[in-house]
Amino acid sequence: MLNLEKSNDLRNYASDFSPNGVPTGKPSPFYVQGGKGARIQDIDGNTYLEYWCGAGPVILGHANSAVNAAVIKAIEAGNVQFSIPSSLEVELMAKLVKHIPCAEKGILSTAGTDALAFAARIARTYTGRPRLAKFEGGYQGWSDELSVSNAPDLSKAGNKEQPNTVADSAGANIDKNSQTLVLPYNDLATTEKILTKEKDAIACVIVEPMIHGNNLMPKEGFLEGLRELCSNLGILLVFDEIVTGFRHGLQGGQGAVNVIPDMGVFGKAMANGFIIAAVCGKNDVLSVVSPEGDVKTAATFAGNALSCSAALATIQVLETPGFYEHLFKLGNTLRDEVNKTAQQLGVKARCDGYGSVWCMYFSDQTPHDYRDIANYRANGGTEKDQAYRSHMLNNGIFLRPQLVNRAYINAAHSENDIQTTVDVITAFMKENKQLINN
Ligand SMILES: Cc1ncc(COP(=O)(O)O)c(C=O)c1O
Repeated sequence: MLNLEKSNDLRNYASDFSPNGVPTGKPSPFYVQGGKGARIQDIDGNTYLEYWCGAGPVILGHANSAVNAAVIKAIEAGNVQFSIPSSLEVELMAKLVKHIPCAEKGILSTAGTDALAFAARIARTYTGRPRLAKFEGGYQGWSDELSVSNAPDLSKAGNKEQPNTVADSAGANIDKNSQTLVLPYNDLATTEKILTKEKDAIACVIVEPMIHGNNLMPKEGFLEGLRELCSNLGILLVFDEIVTGFRHGLQGGQGAVNVIPDMGVFGKAMANGFIIAAVCGKNDVLSVVSPEGDVKTAATFAGNALSCSAALATIQVLETPGFYEHLFKLGNTLRDEVNKTAQQLGVKARCDGYGSVWCMYFSDQTPHDYRDIANYRANGGTEKDQAYRSHMLNNGIFLRPQLVNRAYINAAHSENDIQTTVDVITAFMKENKQLINN
């Protein structure tokens, strides 16, 4: 059992001045101290082999020396925060345009949520239409208008073919007349029906190339069909690439699924943990942005020199020939080994995901939409997932406590780390065969 005495003491102390003692609102069994490569330490001195990677951004490993050197160089040059255009931001945007298929132009921002808010403004201005559309089960940041129906209670979610728009948070201001339209994921025919009816009001459809947050992959032809549908209806297709961008290759998730949206929103893995995001898209679409057009996108820290330096250094490493082959091989080995073992043991468990993103799912059924995930959770999935995450933590492997949630591999994970992880998952499947197969 882990000794978490200092973390528990700090939680008690911090609870006096933050909800649950967590100023960032993210519950965790421990408070972190630092990390290097694929490992992190907590304040009690426990070391974990970890697969959360800072919520996804850390693709090269914690405290990567090339990224650190670039950031330190900027600090020593006195180049930190000006909110005045710099050559670094231009160099970075040139890189994004070079690599990302949909990118002819782009703007920088600080986080996924504000980049998505900018994309929404751009889409509304470009199309002259007021509303946004997204899919049930997707997470598109925490803004009031997009943080809807990520994981709604089924008693509120309505009919599967015409999902209700359900706020993810108390206090969100949702205007009944202009609220975001929620679509059924992987159901192209129904999506077509809804969008055709509402087309004159819809500026854009926002979707991730793969919804790793709820372990959902697009069915064959779904994204291609959505692309065609949006083009036919004059609706912009926006890919939320906050997770997939730079994780699934230099071209992002759009390169992996081979579907090119009108706009793509990037962040996370672009700078290995430094704070940056970008909205990229077709030239005419991005031309509505100020000072060329009327869409204002002012963000104090957009273009921050430390973030731009980190992004340039990260992308330089990602450009190394063989980088993604190596990273994906680690992911494929983990998935293949776990799936082979599950089959040999006769356990209803699977390791899903793509490339460096993976997720254990204790069922022999492939989930196709959020309703499948909600039913899985309600029918024993929650207990199995909780038991699995506790087992991993007690064996020194940190995964985010949230259920049915993605885990990330970074380039500092070794083949040994992957084998250790397979062994720990195998032990869980052996010890819990009855619980899992129930
Ligand atoms: C797919 C997706 N979109 C948007 C966001 C929001 O990004 P941020 O937390 O940087 O605002 C996230 C965050 O996890 C995400 O996973």
